Amino acid sequence: MSKTKTSFFCQNCGYESAKWVGKCPNCDQWNTFVEEVIVKGSDKKEKDDWKEYNGVGKLKTISIADVSSAEEKRIVTNDAELNRVLGGGIVLGSIVLVAGEPGIGKSTLFLQIGLQLNDITTLYISGEESEQQIKMRADRVGIKSEQFYLLTETNTQTIFQEIKKLKPQLIIVDSIQTLQSPFVESGPGSVSQIRECAAELQRFAKETNTPVFLIGHITKDGNIAGPKILEHMVDTVLQFEGDRNYMYRILRTLKNRFGSTAELGIYEMTGTGMRAVSNPSEILITQKEEQLSGIAIAATIEGMRPLLIEAQALVTQSVYGTPQRTVSGFDLRRLQLLLAVLEKRGGFHFGMKDVFINIAGGLKVEDPSIDLAMVSALLSSYEDMPISQHVCFAGEVGLSGEIRAVNRVEQRIAEAEKLGFEKIIVSKYNSKSLSKLKFNIEIISLAKVEELYQYLF
Ligand code: TYD
Ligand code: MG
Repeated sequence: MSKTKTSFFCQNCGYESAKWVGKCPNCDQWNTFVEEVIVKGSDKKEKDDWKEYNGVGKLKTISIADVSSAEEKRIVTNDAELNRVLGGGIVLGSIVLVAGEPGIGKSTLFLQIGLQLNDITTLYISGEESEQQIKMRADRVGIKSEQFYLLTETNTQTIFQEIKKLKPQLIIVDSIQTLQSPFVESGPGSVSQIRECAAELQRFAKETNTPVFLIGHITKDGNIAGPKILEHMVDTVLQFEGDRNYMYRILRTLKNRFGSTAELGIYEMTGTGMRAVSNPSEILITQKEEQLSGIAIAATIEGMRPLLIEAQALVTQSVYGTPQRTVSGFDLRRLQLLLAVLEKRGGFHFGMKDVFINIAGGLKVEDPSIDLAMVSALLSSYEDMPISQHVCFAGEVGLSGEIRAVNRVEQRIAEAEKLGFEKIIVSKYNSKSLSKLKFNIEIISLAKVEELYQYLF
């Protein structure tokens, strides 16, 4: 007799449980379990793979020495930033998840990439927008392509029928949350639907060697159901991020079976689509006529690329009893730590001041080497004395006020030199390994934040 099997899934992390539970034992979220049908009254035949254990079954196992080590074939797109984050182009038969908040520009970017692939039959499957809406967007982006096909459909079986007829060489699915497989009962966007649809597409990708991009929405905290549960199924996970109020967007590799995960691509959202930014440092630094206090340039490394970023600080007299600390693009706890170091080691009374911090361009910086520039910006605003525009900084600040060495310092110095800086301030411990002769830029090495203050003012 056929039986319908159901299971409970955490909608936050995808954890499966036979019974309903209030709190997810995996991610500790409350009230996230929803019952989903996993097998529709099936007549799946029982398989007993061990039966032929002693039989003459053909050996499928293969010695690693016999596997041919052909380089994976790649489609190299016109978009240098995308090629970079994928590790040199789209690998045939790979399945790539692109996750990002709604409205960040995922549909625009992948529509554009598909349209640019002129000699490759691309199928763009949309469950979110009508053909007219996509056409309007394509007109706005202003790229024409004869090889770009649209399909507004959510049923995976219908989709596969269309794919069989068209035989596309690249498939973009926008978005995975809208797809629906007839083999699973629960609604689109549920954990079991997303899993099943992705599994069907993955099988298709591997069997036909067609690359598939899956676009997936995430919320602000980045871990709502959907994309998260797919991370282990797909070959590559790209995250598209940025502040919607700013024009810069970052495409970051979180996982990549065919390349490095330390890569990132930078785009600028314009009125006519996404524009790849090939020299990010030059635009991230605002060019000013006069020198202003509270600004310092950090030579950071984002992904594999050196990036010069402007750190901005505003220190003002506190009006209320509790001073304010407001950050944008920088970790609040990190700021509090730096302020405590300055208070204790340098005797600056930030306890009476409001402090506002900003990273220009709406970027989020994770590289700790921005500390030194941040401290300099704070001191500059505190003293209301500007720092020369020709100086940049690369160093981490430790709890005892020591300036710590940063990795890949040569690359940072080379980038600063290329952009016309005259001086770069680094840790004393970095300069030991540096051959100063190679650079035309003056390298100043300091050991403590006290020395930094004396040097700057
Ligand atoms: P969209 O690609 O729809 O985002 P997602 O698919 O990630 O939800 O992008 C939506 C935003 O992009 C929308 O607010 C308008 C803006 N946009 C531009 O600024 N320029 C353009 O050329 C296009 C097509 C969109
Ligand atoms: Mg979209």
